Amino acid sequence: MHERLARLRQQLQSAGHHYYVLDDPLMPDAEYDRLFRELQALEAEHPEFITPDSPTQRVGAAPMASFTQVSHRVPMLSIHTETDSSEQGAVQFDARVRKQLQLSETDSPVDYVAELKFDGLAISLMYRNHLLVQACTRGDGETGEDVTHNIRTIGQIPLRLPDMAPAELEVRGEVYMRRDDFESLNARQRQRIADGLKNEKTFVNPRNAAAGAVRQLDPRIAAQRPLSFFAYALHFHPDASQTLSPVEATLNGLQIYGNHMQVLLALKTWGFPVSEHSKKVQGATGLIAFHHDIAAQRDSLPFDIDGVVYKVNDISMQARMGMVSREPRWAVAHKYPAQEELTTVQAIEVQVGRTGKLTPVAKLAPVFVGGVTVTNATLHNEDEARRKDVRVGDTVVVRRAGDVIPEVVSVMLEKRLQDAQIFTMPSHCPVCDSLALCDEGEADYRCTGGLFCSAQRKQAILHFAHRRAVEVDDLGEKLVDQLVDAGLVNTLPDLYKLVFSQLAVLERMAEKSANNLLASLERSKQTTLPRFVFGLGIRHVGEATAKELARHFGGMDAIMNAGIDQLLTVNDVGPVVAQSLRTFFDQPHNREVVEQLRACGLQWQESAPGARLDLPLAGHTYVITGTLPTLSREQAQALLEEAGAKVAGSVSKKTTGVIAGEAAGSKLEKANALGIPVLDEPALMALVKAP
Ligand code: IVH
Repeated sequence: MHERLARLRQQLQSAGHHYYVLDDPLMPDAEYDRLFRELQALEAEHPEFITPDSPTQRVGAAPMASFTQVSHRVPMLSIHTETDSSEQGAVQFDARVRKQLQLSETDSPVDYVAELKFDGLAISLMYRNHLLVQACTRGDGETGEDVTHNIRTIGQIPLRLPDMAPAELEVRGEVYMRRDDFESLNARQRQRIADGLKNEKTFVNPRNAAAGAVRQLDPRIAAQRPLSFFAYALHFHPDASQTLSPVEATLNGLQIYGNHMQVLLALKTWGFPVSEHSKKVQGATGLIAFHHDIAAQRDSLPFDIDGVVYKVNDISMQARMGMVSREPRWAVAHKYPAQEELTTVQAIEVQVGRTGKLTPVAKLAPVFVGGVTVTNATLHNEDEARRKDVRVGDTVVVRRAGDVIPEVVSVMLEKRLQDAQIFTMPSHCPVCDSLALCDEGEADYRCTGGLFCSAQRKQAILHFAHRRAVEVDDLGEKLVDQLVDAGLVNTLPDLYKLVFSQLAVLERMAEKSANNLLASLERSKQTTLPRFVFGLGIRHVGEATAKELARHFGGMDAIMNAGIDQLLTVNDVGPVVAQSLRTFFDQPHNREVVEQLRACGLQWQESAPGARLDLPLAGHTYVITGTLPTLSREQAQALLEEAGAKVAGSVSKKTTGVIAGEAAGSKLEKANALGIPVLDEPALMALVKAP
């Protein structure tokens, strides 16, 4: 009985570690659940045998009335933030370290450990006799709050340490929430609000959600909030009653570990999650390289960071340097520009795009975020605007991550003005007053004015002139506004009919700029078929599709006249794109635009079609996998292509068939799973010979 209990706990503990920390599950969830239930049942029969580290003890404790205050055995310091966010931050820190350690220029570079600065909250974990006995928040650094009941629910945090670890230990680290977990938590919260549940709210950001979960009085609620943990510091407390100063604690640690990297490795061996990004680097150059490297990865990390942390690796050096005003001298935070800031919404405007799409845009009081000053944030569409319920006058959180367009993350409801009006999409286009319609099942409203709408005309011209389309240099947004507003340009061909005298009268148009524009227009006449097709601005036809169309058909007329079936044989062209092309070229005025542009002198090279449509396998796609008995892969591919088929590298629903030989692997499996016909070499030969 005791043995069974111990065995179950050990199995569940190890499975949990593999699942939560190593991301490499040992057993299927159902097996875990079965063992878990067996343990629960045994413990229910014999409550006297329940141990505090039993996996069953992670959840289910009763809610608490309030938090108990806990004095930290070693104060939890804060960390100095390097004010200069450029490379200089690293240079200055390294210079200070060298000075304090009295190193001269000829001494070798200092070893550092560079880490991520996780954007969560600091937690201290106290282990006694290898068991997690207490977890508390940082609080003011001297006193924190006992949140053991909630921290126990975090699967990544060991409840028991292996025997090789010291029995009395304090581990510090960061509790945080992954971005994907945050998104699903908020989706769940939105559903609860929609279901009418009171006292539910969505969270502003992962940090806020993590902090809220850790400070929950009811651990059953905390257990539903997906939290994660990274360990980054360690203190020994051989004498369980002793309180230590930070410097004493550092010296104490030195008796066991010589440097910080060893500390991280030990934490990892004992089962704590330690960030894979922590890295030993040398001198200021090493720090700078790390800072750049992480900046480039920042947006693709699965969690938020607000910077990096540099730590002197050698613990005896740490001890020599000590601390000043609650901050160690041997560590520093080097931040990145914040990606989220607060600002106010001054107006909500509706912009009209090239295809008539109406986009609500929040006009913001200028705010510096993600390294640039932001004044606009998209609200995407009516559903989004309504979901976020952004109103004029609201104080909002704006996020700009990487090169992504800035967006409103959330509204600070407590700051909402009393008379703030709910935003609704206009029923008519704000530019041309045509009816705005939202197609069944679509999120976007569109202006029905087409090229009658000057906003759409302007966007169509800008698109045509884009660097990656027909490329008319010197034709910017302001100039297009002027040309359209003055009635000089209504359609694309009008561009090529412009003459100097018309341009010269435009406001702020100097002689030189007028000549520049005319020269650019002249240059743009020599173009390529893909650029021209892309430049027409056909809905759903992006640059890649334009290239495929050009390659497939070889000439403009063939593209214009292709029927839906023919269009569907082109790479990347599905029913939506095919229909869009047909709709576009079925309109006489669009064909007229193409003719007129040609008449104006636009020209491009045409070529033989990339695929013959009269061949037996035209429009079919095959995948070849494994080794065929007599044909090489290249020979098989050539046979298929000669018969008009396309040969693709991976199996999808669009695949006509899979040619499989010896030792075919996952492609064959996928074909079977999707119910796609599988052919052997003789079947292939019969196929390509078929009349
Ligand atoms: S070390 C003596 N390392 O930053 C230095 N802190 O410390 C003690 N933080 O609220 C902290 N990532 O929660 C350290 N890799 C990291 C960190 C980190 C985030 C937080 C920590 C604390 C704040 C200042």
